[in-house]
Formats: sequence, structure tokens, C-alpha cells
Amino acid sequence: MKKETKKTPKDLYLGLLKKNKTIPSKYHYDLNGSKYFEKITQQKEYYPTRKEKEILRKVSKQIPKLFKGKLSFIELGSGAVDKIKILINKNVEFYVPLDISLDFVKKSVRQLRRKFRYIKVKPIKIDYSKSFKIPSHKKTTSVYFFLGSSIGNFHNNEEVLFLKKLRKSIGKNNFLFIGVDLIKNTHVLNKAYNDKKGYTAKFSLNLINILNKTYDTKLNIKNFYYNGFYNSKKKCIQGFLVSKISQKFRIGNKKIILKKNEKILVEISNKFTISSFTNLASRTGWSPVRYWQDKQKYYSLFLLKS
Ligand SMILES: C[S@@+](CC[C@H](N)C(=O)[O-])C[C@H]1O[C@@H](n2cnc3c(N)ncnc32)[C@H](O)[C@@H]1O
Repeated sequence: MKKETKKTPKDLYLGLLKKNKTIPSKYHYDLNGSKYFEKITQQKEYYPTRKEKEILRKVSKQIPKLFKGKLSFIELGSGAVDKIKILINKNVEFYVPLDISLDFVKKSVRQLRRKFRYIKVKPIKIDYSKSFKIPSHKKTTSVYFFLGSSIGNFHNNEEVLFLKKLRKSIGKNNFLFIGVDLIKNTHVLNKAYNDKKGYTAKFSLNLINILNKTYDTKLNIKNFYYNGFYNSKKKCIQGFLVSKISQKFRIGNKKIILKKNEKILVEISNKFTISSFTNLASRTGWSPVRYWQDKQKYYSLFLLKS
């Protein structure tokens, strides 16, 4: 009997039918993908998490001055819900993590619930690459977060549309904290996306498992390897899965042909400067209020007003 598989999403097969093949980064995040990503964030070479936490510790002292009264924290792409713990204070009544990888978030919030027993936590599944509705809590001031440099993971300038949609969805005069990774020494960037223990490679190769499990593609993971590096012209990290052999597979009713050494772009992490991100925020209708940086100026956190 033929294995029942999920209907193939358009953005997935269209990306694979292109001359320069791509898979949007959201497909990485099944339960295993989220666990691998969490491992990446714990590696010494992966500076973005360490640097963002350094900034958040500074910012946490200012949150009570910036936002008075009862608060709701609403976080897009929360993943392991680790960073928000740095910011939570006694005024926070609700915490709403929104993520495509809901099973992982549900597991991750257990520890947060134990630590902050006074907070109501409500994880919700969303796909913010589509149209979405962001919740708010009427009797509290909602503060929004988009951390982990996820704003860099959009292909083809889709972050422009995303920021516009987000602003519309949360309404006027609300605040968003957004983590933005900065352009820096190429060596530092390349090391961060090629950790010694190989978690970045495992995270990317896990996509093959996801394709097999979800769409019955019958690919052999051993026929691919990961290759990731900083493209200084495009100002982004590009992570590829490279086919070691020439091979064919089916996804839904589409036939995909991969030549030997052909690459699929599976990860993109755009890097910004303070002025390029300020410009992006302004172009999408946000007012940049202020920004913070870590001591080495590797990373930045912006506060934007809608
Ligand atoms: C780069 S990770 C960042 C995780 C966490 N915020 C951090 O700072 O470590 C991206 C997160 O966004 C989620 N994500 C990716 N694409 C998404 C989408 N289209 N809609 C909702 N969540 C998404 C992933 O599941 C993951 O938790």
C-alpha cells in the first residue's frame, strides 16, 4: 500500500523546480530540527546567542522603566524560550510564544512555567511567512519580540513584506524588540556556521529526513553534504545541501532532478549594518526608537515602534 503523505506545499516544490534550487528555512523545524538548532546556539563558535543574551541582560534593567503596568510578552519564533527568561519581571502576566515548531515550544515552556509560576503561558502555532494574526491581551500592554536574528532568514527580500504585515497586525503605537546580526569579520561568520561538533550540518541534513518522512521522497541522507559560508557580495550566510551524486526524486507529483555537485540553498542568514537595518525598519513603516549592541559590536537589538 502506498504511504500516505502530506500535500506538498507550493513554496517547497516551486523552490525545488528552480534552476538555483532553494528550500525555505521554516522547513527545518520539526522536533529534531528545533533540537539541533538549540544545540547550535550552545556552541562556542555560534556567537549570535551569546551576544544577544549579553544585550538582553542590559535591556532587562530598562524594561520596567520603558513599560509600566501589567505586561504581555508576545514572541515570534520563540524556539527554546530561553532568552525571554532574561526579560521577564513581576509585571508580566502573559507570555505567548508563537512558533511553527509547536511540539518543541510546548516542551520548552515547562521549565519556564516552573520558574515563573505567576505567568499564564500560551504557546500558539503560526507560520509567519503566510498571513497571520498576532494576539494581544486587552488589560495589559503587549510587548513584542522577534529574537535570534530570524529577520535574516527570509529569502528574496521577503523580510520587507513580513515587517509590513507584522506592523499592521499588531496595530499602531506598539513596541517590538528585534535581534539583528551585524556584518563582521568573515572568519568569525564562517566559523559560526561551521561549528566543530557539526550541529549546523546535522540541522541542515535533517531536512532530508523531514522530506522523506513528510513527503515520502525516499532520499538517502548519505548522498548529501552541508556547505555553508559567508557571501560577502550578498552580505549573507548561505547554507547549501550538496548532492554527492546525480539523482532523481518525486515530491508530490513533481519530478526533481539533481546533478552531481548540484546545490540546494537551504539556509540564508542576512547580515546588516546599523544603518541598513534602520533603513529597512523605516521603509516598512516602523519607527526605530533605539538600539543596543554587545561590547564587540557583533550583534544588535533594536526597539521599534509601530
Ligand atoms: C533562528 S531560530 C530562533 C529561535 C529563538 N528565537 C532564538 O533566538 O534562539 C528561528 C525560530 O523561528 C521558528 N520559525 C521559523 N520559521 C517560522 C515561520 N515561518 N513561522 C513561525 N515560526 C518560524 C523556528 O521554529 C525557530 O524556533
